[in-house]
Amino acid sequence: MKNIVILISGGGSNMAAIVKTAQREGWAKKYGARVAAVVSNKASAGGLTIAADQGLATAVLDHKSFPSREAFDDALAAIIDRYDELGAPALVVLAGFMRILTPGFVARYEGRLLNIHPSLLPAFPGLHTHQRALDAGCKFAGVTVHQVTAELDHGPILDQAVVPVLAGDTADDIAARVLTQEHLIYPRAIATLLQASCY
Ligand code: GAR
Repeated sequence: MKNIVILISGGGSNMAAIVKTAQREGWAKKYGARVAAVVSNKASAGGLTIAADQGLATAVLDHKSFPSREAFDDALAAIIDRYDELGAPALVVLAGFMRILTPGFVARYEGRLLNIHPSLLPAFPGLHTHQRALDAGCKFAGVTVHQVTAELDHGPILDQAVVPVLAGDTADDIAARVLTQEHLIYPRAIATLLQASCY
């Protein structure tokens, strides 16, 4: 079985959408793949409860209890690598995981590390993407699923979705509109990779 490990920091709605789609589309039978575990760097992440309710293995690794980014990432990799007999999972999926990862961690999972970022990359890498889109007068906003490389919010683009910016929109309005699209394109991008048997 190909194991997918999902990393979260917050509400986990993307993680929940991936888990739901995997069940609905029967990824286990279709692709021999399953979501094996959900790991959070925050004990308070709401997504942990959702994951536990789905019967998934969960783990918390508080980044504040590590002396360096490298030490945290090493411990994170040790947890992730439990989820594959071969020593590494098929896919590591960042779903609202709000940590910058070290080049060593990224290299370890090269080609198998995915991220969702709430902008139309390469526009607006980093934080506060929707407010920045509003401030720039953008008529459209969106979301990108991409492979992770050492450069923050870069890497080969796997899928994108576009939403309009409407008159009077706040950043929260755009975020809600974009999130609906996130829940569609992230599971779809993962399924496409699994189908292509790349992983
Ligand atoms: C999502 O909007 C995701 O695109 C964003 O965090 C939110 C997590 O929501 N990710 C980033 O900003 C990464 N740079 P969720 O916890 O409900 O999935």
